[in-house]
Amino acid sequence: MSVLKISNLSKSYGMIKAVDNLNLSIEAGQIYGILGPNGSGKTTTLGMITGVLKPDSGSYEWFGGQEENPLKKIGTILETPNFFPYLNADENLEIVRHIKGSEDKNFDSILELVALKERRKSKFASYSLGMKQRLAIAATLIGDPQALIYDEPTNGLDPQGIADVRATLTSVAESGKTVILASHMLDEVEKICTHVAIIKNGVLLATGPVGSILSADKSIEVAAAENEAALGNWLRSNAAIKNVKHDGFFFECVVDEDFDIAQMSKALSQLNIYPTHIVERKQKLEEEFLQITSKA
Ligand SMILES: Nc1ncnc2c1ncn2[C@@H]1O[C@H](COP(=O)(O)OP(=O)(O)OP(=O)(O)O)[C@@H](O)[C@H]1O
Ligand SMILES: [Mg+2]
Repeated sequence: MSVLKISNLSKSYGMIKAVDNLNLSIEAGQIYGILGPNGSGKTTTLGMITGVLKPDSGSYEWFGGQEENPLKKIGTILETPNFFPYLNADENLEIVRHIKGSEDKNFDSILELVALKERRKSKFASYSLGMKQRLAIAATLIGDPQALIYDEPTNGLDPQGIADVRATLTSVAESGKTVILASHMLDEVEKICTHVAIIKNGVLLATGPVGSILSADKSIEVAAAENEAALGNWLRSNAAIKNVKHDGFFFECVVDEDFDIAQMSKALSQLNIYPTHIVERKQKLEEEFLQITSKA
């Protein structure tokens, strides 16, 4: 089922094209990462799809246009009121429940999901930043929304806080809800998301399942001390091997995920080329992300 379809969405601030003709399709159950460097248009995009900002052109449609008031089916931190410091988690969530007009007064499962059940009676003021953020996530879950939108939910947290919030987001996702997550952190998207859209300067650069966009390739290093020239020729003439580079000691190349090193070794030895060094490593995601974002 289509949760969100974005068609040719654009928005400029004066001369700055913040979002440039964006097209995206998000399906139910996906954890969709919108990944891009600072200033790439993530927050502007989220602002438009939550009705906070008006697009210059283009459109978006929630839930296949089937919902009369789709924004009621979406939970986002943008709309969450500030919590009251002297009230505890239950009392703060009760206020949110009133604002949202939800009937469900039982916060047990929500507090369990965000791992705040033990601290539900502590004042908000006594919470760590990570706990505050988890309470904000709890607030988005009130009213049982179908889709959740989070803009850089781990910003400003320490490593433990980041790990806790990421675990919470994973639990939210496992509960079957669709999650849209804006992030400038590649490893965050890689850890949490099933799908990703990479944007830069408001332009969509790549989109698809996280695996197919971010980690399909691996690198190999090969050396054959006695047969260097023959090895180089063989690598360069092999269609399955890309980006062959010689760095003085070994050849570095990019191959598909299912490239078979043993087969390569066998083929080489049949030509009397004996590798003295073979190393396989996943292409560093960081490198790939930089490659993708530097193309635009
Ligand atoms: N209210 C505004 N007025 C003028 N320019 C803006 C405004 N909001 C955003 N911009 C510009 O639009 C572009 C996209 O900004 P946006 O905040 O959407 O990016 P972002 O991907 O969320 O960045 P970050 O990772 O820093 O949060 C940037 O160049 C930004 O400076
Ligand atoms: Mg932003």
